Amino acid sequence: MKVAIVGTSGAVGQEFLRILEERDFPMDELVLFGSSRSAGNKYQFKGKELTVKELQHNDDFKGIDIAFTSAGASTSKEYAETITKYGAVMIDNSSAFRMDDDVPLVVPEVNAKACENLPRNIIANPNCTTIQMVVALKPIQDLSHIKRVHVSTYQAASGAGASGMEELEAQVHQVVKGEKPTVKKFQHQLAMNIIPHVDVFTDNGYTKEEMKMYNESRKIMGTDLQVSATCVRIPVMRAHSESIWVETELPISVEQARDAFNKAEGVKVIDNPSANEYPMPMFLAGKDEVFVGRIRKDLSNPNGLTFWTVSDQIKKGAALNAVQIAEYMIK
Ligand code: HSE
Repeated sequence: MKVAIVGTSGAVGQEFLRILEERDFPMDELVLFGSSRSAGNKYQFKGKELTVKELQHNDDFKGIDIAFTSAGASTSKEYAETITKYGAVMIDNSSAFRMDDDVPLVVPEVNAKACENLPRNIIANPNCTTIQMVVALKPIQDLSHIKRVHVSTYQAASGAGASGMEELEAQVHQVVKGEKPTVKKFQHQLAMNIIPHVDVFTDNGYTKEEMKMYNESRKIMGTDLQVSATCVRIPVMRAHSESIWVETELPISVEQARDAFNKAEGVKVIDNPSANEYPMPMFLAGKDEVFVGRIRKDLSNPNGLTFWTVSDQIKKGAALNAVQIAEYMIK
């Protein structure tokens, strides 16, 4: 088994290195690729030093079985043929192919079987906010069909990459020193603020990030689910949170929901309000699961249920989900 990472130097690429080592992913060789800027960078993997090769249109992917790509949608589009033409399966972290009919969009806990049919040798990894939400929706959907979802996200600075984290950290220092914070990456100052705007606005008043939650969740769940999202950037470094409301065909009790979450793959429940226990990003960054808490009935609708989730969007929301797809495929 020969594995490649494309976009090794980015935040998600770095997480791929850590996860493949941590999970002892079965492989004989790992090859690292990156832009001309990051070519030559060296990284440690299982005690060995690996050097990043420049991604080029050549035969470097001959013999590669699985390529994890996280270098952005334009690179994925440009290099998909070069990467897959000798048979490598490309597990792509970008939005390039997510909604293509001949590319499965996969969250293993929900629709692992979709990876069994690969007309283009490409599997798309969903957006982080979608992954986190559908992992939590699956056990509820198994109890009763979910008709609609209202979700508000609370997205960490790291969702915008390493430069997003650096900007937030710099702004915190500037605020403490009484200086005017530098704003480059986000639309506004993020320190001491929240920004109800992630990615760009579309014509219907929703942002692209919000429309990803709508479109991707329907494709993954394979249902007529309706999702209305408000995506918000908050001054947290890592791990996204989501406040989720669902309306189901049949009423579901809190006890039924808690039991289903407890048994669900990839979910952990932290829900003890009397001890002030619920999921929080500060304590859950770096963990693998989607954490669920604040499970309660909607007071205005007997078929409504509401809960709170936290998950590390670089792990389950990105690199970990892609590695789990690969693990399913080689099982
Ligand atoms: N689009 C997401 C964000 C990142 O900006 O938070 C998804 O990993």
